[in-house]
Amino acid sequence: MNSFGNIFRLTSFGESHGEAIGGVIDGCPAGIYLDKEFIQKELDKRKPGQSDFVTSRKEEDRIEFLSGVYDGKTTGTPIGFLVRNEDQHSSDYDNLKDVYRPSHADYTYQTKYGIRDHRGGGRSSARETISRIAGGAVAQLALEKANIRIVAYASQIGHISLDRHYSELDLEAIETTPVRCPDTEAAKKMMDLIQQVKKEGDTIGGVVTCICKGVPAGLGEPVFGKLHAALGSAMLSINAAKGFEYGMGFAGAQYRGSEVNDIFYRRTDGKIATKTNYSGGIQGGISNGEDIYFRVAFKPAATLLREQQTIDIHGNNTVINVHGRHDPCVVPRAVPIVKAMAAMVILDYYLI
Ligand SMILES: Cc1cc2nc3c(=O)[nH]c(=O)nc-3n(C[C@H](O)[C@H](O)[C@H](O)COP(=O)(O)O)c2cc1C
Repeated sequence: MNSFGNIFRLTSFGESHGEAIGGVIDGCPAGIYLDKEFIQKELDKRKPGQSDFVTSRKEEDRIEFLSGVYDGKTTGTPIGFLVRNEDQHSSDYDNLKDVYRPSHADYTYQTKYGIRDHRGGGRSSARETISRIAGGAVAQLALEKANIRIVAYASQIGHISLDRHYSELDLEAIETTPVRCPDTEAAKKMMDLIQQVKKEGDTIGGVVTCICKGVPAGLGEPVFGKLHAALGSAMLSINAAKGFEYGMGFAGAQYRGSEVNDIFYRRTDGKIATKTNYSGGIQGGISNGEDIYFRVAFKPAATLLREQQTIDIHGNNTVINVHGRHDPCVVPRAVPIVKAMAAMVILDYYLI
């Protein structure tokens, strides 16, 4: 279960403190210019140590391509790549060998496999998402050819929520704040909150909003390959993702049909469109040509830099004190991961 996608297919490998994280992308169309600078920039948005609001682990995360590229372009053959791990500090995790962090994956991995690489969370570490970012960046390059563009931003951290619709925001400003929120005033409040929580050795959750623009009508496979189901599955495979809603989502439960039906009309350029987009660009599991937008909720990271009660691997009650470098809030680094997963799903369904 380390492979993802149907035609555009990513297989990911690696652990947090192993030799490397990497992957194989199969099914990428031939002739795509593999813009390594763009791919590296996407990886840089995920890398640790980029600001005060994320983990201070220092790694360059330089990507090496091993195959599938000739003369700067994809050849239609498998694209192998890897990023070597550099700044592991495995000894920071020595005291986690025999105890389970509450709400992390230590207990479930140990129970399932009877063995686990506890260093840095092993395979359950979000370092694995390097593979997804690389796959997603290649998918974004392919989608550019079809004029499909994907953007994502932090829309909520803790109780600080951006209530404005994405159409009222300057989506070009996402990267201007370290938390990746395009509203500078809200971003400042979010950063203050993360700093405060971090000082207390605690963590905080949040929400990422994602918009897929330019997706033509007709993508999505009834009945078990519905586009929103594929997006939901992709998003819920991201570490710490706990909720997914597209379009009006759960809020839709409180309305009448007469209030939220998306009325069709013909635009002056002849294109069929809807006056509103409560459906989130997908109806019957198939894209309708409007923007596809959705939200992903992330829990507060499990590893707290303060004492917590837990049990050890023998089932004895104990306390846990974690040291080392952890994210006080995963959202700023989750933004590019959400975008990458969305790009791979949309490209996969485009190819289908
Ligand atoms: C970008 C990113 C960074 C993360 N950093 C941390 C971290 O520093 N500490 C931590 O305990 N969890 C972190 N997580 C979450 C864990 O990887 C995740 O909670 C864990 O694997 C258990 O899985 P679950 O929360 O999905 O059940 C991070 C997640 C993401 C997306």
